[in-house]
Amino acid sequence: MTMENDIERVLFSEDQIQARIKELATQINQDYANSKELVVVSVLTGGMMFTIDLFKRISLYASLDCVDLSSYRGATTTSSGTVEVLQDLKHPIAGKDVLVVEDIVDTGRTLKKLMDVLAARGANSIRVCTLFDKPERRVVDVKADYVGLDVPNEFLVGYGLDYNNLYRNLPYVGVLKPSIYQ
Ligand code: PRP
Ligand code: MN
Ligand code: MG
Repeated sequence: MTMENDIERVLFSEDQIQARIKELATQINQDYANSKELVVVSVLTGGMMFTIDLFKRISLYASLDCVDLSSYRGATTTSSGTVEVLQDLKHPIAGKDVLVVEDIVDTGRTLKKLMDVLAARGANSIRVCTLFDKPERRVVDVKADYVGLDVPNEFLVGYGLDYNNLYRNLPYVGVLKPSIYQ
């Protein structure tokens, strides 16, 4: 039983992903050079891998917090349409610069929900960094401030992206064979 057999084709290799993360970190380090504290908010679960690799490349005073949101539940390739907040942040963000870190923005519902939740908390600034963006699928009007890579409208797995909570541990991103979910 090996995950590789379930991948139709690789979209971004491990090296390509890591190279892009390095560029994003350089940009973020520049943009926040005058910030007193950057609060990096990882959106669990998919955002974990990207957050860790990005966070290690941030050279600013940065703290790390997590929020757990869920929109895709169980063995499905389509968003449920409702986003649940399963776990809130551990620390207040008032007066801080917040950078939300996501693996992918798809319909945009997850990000919209999170921005609504965080909006009233008095942060100095809130921006979003997503590794992958699938603009074709957007149903609500949200935009990330930092985008790693645009992706086509196919069901992708790997590097945090899951199907039924599997494949997140692939170091690359690939297209899942339709036979797996059909
Ligand atoms: C996935 C992904 C994003 C969100 C994007 O999370 O990690 O958070 O969906 O989709 P959207 O733009 O259509 O809302 P998911 O709900 O699968 O939870 P997970 O991160 O725990 O896998
Ligand atoms: Mn997610
Ligand atoms: Mg998921």
